[in-house]
This record gives sequence, C-alpha cells and structure tokens, in this order.
Amino acid sequence: MYRTHNCGELNISHVGQQVTLCGWVQRGRDLGGLTFVDLRDRYGITQLLFNMETDDSLCQSARKLGREFVVQATGIVSERSSKNPKMATGDIEISVSKLEILNPSAVPPFTIEDDTDGGDDLRMKYRYLDLRRAPVMNSIMLRHRMAQVVRSYMDSNGFIEIETPVLIKSTPEGARDFVVPSRMNPGEFYALPQSPQTFKQLLMVSGFDKYFQIVKCFRDEDLRADRQPEFTQIDCEMSFVQREDILNMFEGLARHLFKAVLSIDIPTLDRISYADAMKYYGNDKPDLRFDMKLCELNDTVKGKGFKVFDDAELIVAINVTGQSEYTRKQLDELTEWVKRPQIGMSGLIYAKHNTDGTIKSSVDKFFNADELARWSTACDSKPGDLILVLAGNESRTRKAMSELRLEMGERLGLRDKNVFKCAWVLDFPLLEKDEESGRWHAMHHPFTSALPDDVHLLDTDPGKVRANAYDMVINGVEVGGGSIRIHNKDIQKKMFSLLGFSDEEAQKQFGFLMNAFEFGAPPHGGIAFGFDRLCSLFGGSESIRDYIAFPKNNAGRDVMIDSPSSISDEQLKELAIKVVN
Ligand code: AMO
Repeated sequence: MYRTHNCGELNISHVGQQVTLCGWVQRGRDLGGLTFVDLRDRYGITQLLFNMETDDSLCQSARKLGREFVVQATGIVSERSSKNPKMATGDIEISVSKLEILNPSAVPPFTIEDDTDGGDDLRMKYRYLDLRRAPVMNSIMLRHRMAQVVRSYMDSNGFIEIETPVLIKSTPEGARDFVVPSRMNPGEFYALPQSPQTFKQLLMVSGFDKYFQIVKCFRDEDLRADRQPEFTQIDCEMSFVQREDILNMFEGLARHLFKAVLSIDIPTLDRISYADAMKYYGNDKPDLRFDMKLCELNDTVKGKGFKVFDDAELIVAINVTGQSEYTRKQLDELTEWVKRPQIGMSGLIYAKHNTDGTIKSSVDKFFNADELARWSTACDSKPGDLILVLAGNESRTRKAMSELRLEMGERLGLRDKNVFKCAWVLDFPLLEKDEESGRWHAMHHPFTSALPDDVHLLDTDPGKVRANAYDMVINGVEVGGGSIRIHNKDIQKKMFSLLGFSDEEAQKQFGFLMNAFEFGAPPHGGIAFGFDRLCSLFGGSESIRDYIAFPKNNAGRDVMIDSPSSISDEQLKELAIKVVN
C-alpha cells in the first residue's frame, strides 16, 4: 500500500498513529537541528518533521529534497508546538521515520503555490504543473461537482443522456465551422458541431422525449474571456412542451445548482423582454445586481441649440446615485474612458444634482435651471446624484451607455461576485437584418419558431416577428439560450426561404431534418447552457479558461502541445489537400 492517508485529512484525533503519506514536496525549511517539509497532494498539505537528533541521515536526505519531488513518508502523527489555524492539518505534523523518493523533479519553471510567480504564457505551457496549484485544481473540482449535480437533476427529472456524433455536417449557430478532411472521401470535409442542435431535434422525432448531454461544441470565432473555440454545453431538449414548461424545468436546474453547490437559495427568476432589456440596460444580457437604468432624453433635451443633442439619434442618461461629488478629474477621466476606441463616443455630458438641490451641468450654456430640472425628472435624480449623458448614433450610443453603466457599477462596487441575480430574457426578435448584405439572419438559429401571436407577420413584416426564444442571464452573462422549435416541414421551409436559402440549398444542407419532419415530429423545444460560463460564475472568476483543464489561449492555440501545427506533405497528399499560400 502506497499510503494510509492523504495529505488533507489528518488532525489532532490521529495523534500517535503511524501513517504513510505520498505527495509532492511543496517546500522545505531547514532550521538547524529540525527540517520541515510541506507535502502536498490533491487533498491538502501536511507538514513533515525530520529531527537531526533522532535520525541524522534521514534529516540529511530530507534536506536534499527539491521542490516537486514525489515522496513517500512514514511516521507518527504528533501535535505541533506552534499550530497553524489556517491549515486543515495545521494542528499536527508527521515525525518521519522513513522517507522514500518515488521520483525526483526538475526545478519547476514557476512556484507551485497559491500565489505563483509564473506569467500566463508560462503557466499555460506547463499547464499540468499549473493544475497542481490549489486554486486551479479547486476550479476543476468545482466543475466536476457541478457536472455531477447537473446529471443527477436531469436524471431525476427523466432526461436521458445521449451522445451525438462529433464528425458531422455544418450546424448553423452563426459562427464558422471547424472542418476535418475525410481521407476516404477525398475533397470532402466533416464539420465539428457548433452544437448538437439538429441531432437533439432528431432524437425528439425518435421519441426520446427528454434528452440531455454534457457535450463539447466547436466554434471558430474570435475569442474573449468568456469564449473558447471548444467549449462545453449542457444541451437539453424536450417534447410536448411549451415555453413555460422549459422555463420551469431549467429554472429548477439553476435553483438546484445554486443550492447544491453554493448553498444559496435563489428567488424566482425575473423575466424581462428583449425590448425592455435593450431599453433599460442597453443590452440583451443585463446585469441586474444594480439598478441604474438607462433613461432616454430625446424628448427632454432636443431643440435647445446644443448641436450634439440636436444631431443625435439617441440621447440617453444614467442616474448614478450619491455621486454628485465626483471631481472634475474623475469626470475628465470618465470622458477619456468613453472616448476609447472600444467605446467610441466623442464625449460625455454630465449634470450634478448637488446636495443643496441645485443642478450644475457641463452644458449650462444651453440649458437653464428649469430645463435641467426636467433632466432630473426624466432620470429621477435626487440631491446628491450624478447624471451622465451620452448622445449620438442609436445603436452605438445605447451600447456605449450599457458599457458605462457596467463600468460605474464596477467602480461603485455594485457588482459583487458573491451576489447572484438570475433572469430570463424573453421575446427576442426572430430575425435580424445584416446591414451589408440586406439579408435576414436568424437571431437564435433557423429552427426557432415565432411567438404564436406574431406568426401572421412572417409574410408582411418579418422584422417585427418575435421569437419563441429565451436566454438565461446571470449577473450580465448569457449562461444559456434556447427556443421552442419549428416542427412543421412547411414552416421550416418558409423559414429557410426567408433566410435566403433556395429550395435546393435548404434541401442539400438540412434535407435530413425536413425529411424527418415528415414522419411525425412532435412539438418540441429546448435550451443549452454554457457549462464553462456557469462554472466560472459559480467560482467567481471572469475567465472560463480557469475552469477548463487544458484551455486554448486567445489566439486559439494550445501552447503546451503546440497546436494547431502543420502536417506532413504525405498526410496532405493522403487527404487530397493542396495548401495555397
Ligand atoms: P447558443 O449558441 O446560444 O445556443 O449557445 C448556448 C450557450 O453556450 C454558451 N456559448 C459559449 N461558451 C463558451 N465559448 C463559446 N464560444 C460559446 N458559445 C456559446 C453560451 C450560450 O448561451 N443550439 C442552441 C441551443 C438551443 O437552441 O437549444 C445553442 O447552441 O452560454
């Protein structure tokens, strides 16, 4: 037997027992006659004690241990003279009588402790060492826990876990496909699934009724903190359901996860329409941990001779509670912030609603006290508040104000990562127009049905049709999205034609699904959650990379295995691929 216990479980109740532990040497301290070694494994750290007086040669061996050596130590559990209340094993140490080096280690390229000196690139190159660090390992273990909780909820609600293929044909989730050449079919390619969307719908046609899968999806898109080229979904589909059934079932999943993993009871989810989310938060994934709603001022401020407002499509404000004392320097700095290319505004206008009730704006030349009082009414400001205003092109200004709202929320500490506000965003537009090509695109995907009340608009005013679709949003992060699907072949055909597919193109790409719809497709709908995003929210981190054992960097590279990489001419030939530079 290699070990009797692990490095995280021994405590005062074990004093006097002989134990054998295995693990990695985190660090050693040599105090003359005594040598201490911290031994680490997945479960924790235990202090080993070597006493020169008891066994000089053993103590000499301990002094020679390098960082990350793998060792086996046997000894008696003894009570420490100076205890460490911060460690689970901090009351005890092992007085070692036998030490075996199971494997030495080269000097690690960075310190393997909670706080490391290793930069991002280095840690990614040696990810297997980074994973030894407790905070990183804990994130991966949180992910495991969450996966188990999801599986148990789904299973107990009658869902069946079914694997769908990875080598498939393009699925239209809106990103580019990763493709895999087929040696046996020269010149032809598989696509990796952007999601199992079409397969889960086919499983409904097969009669499985309730399906789920924790599944890898692949999307060739620009990467951000919350996007990886390969990521994991909790993918779900149900038959004979309406929107309400789906919302209830998956609100239940969210509630169950929060309770089981974080011991938090979350209230019933708020529901907000897409239109209201855009109007009040400038964003279809609003962070509802704080209020600070957007208020439109077009009717209040136009026509007073201030060109910036008069020429603007949209003038929009937020009222920042209790910040009228913002200094000139802070406001200048905020102005520079909105002028950054990522935000793209030409300036920021403000009005301070002073504690004495007066209002002082940065555009006093154009607006007298009465007019500023109307700003205050429109924004519902109180003495002590600060009104921030942006003006310009409609969509850019709304987006910029949404960013400014989040920034102010951040600066004022209103975005506490231990507070969770979950909501459903409903009634998305079914279609959006691509300004360049003038073509309609499905906002969710082409299998999404219209809200029953809006079906009649499909022929006359497609831009006005609302989708029977929903997103779950937590703290400003879109954690999941889905819809009630089209299950009628003719409506699906019509949808493809609205999206600009010819009958032949639609048949070629999605004929298998439309054919299936001829054989008794049940009404169905579903949702998919971004599992990595859920994990990072639960773990309190911005980046989903921390919750993926072997993630890609922002250039889509795995720097540890050096991938992607070129392949040999021979392989290229076998695959009938000609590289054009
Ligand atoms: P959607 O495209 O909205 O829907 O994806 C579902 C959820 O997956 C997560 N997600 C991502 N997470 C990490 N990296 C990415 N690149 C990435 N892209 C998406 C998001 C998102 O909410 N088939 C439909 C679902 C359905 O209709 O049932 C779908 O894939 O959290």
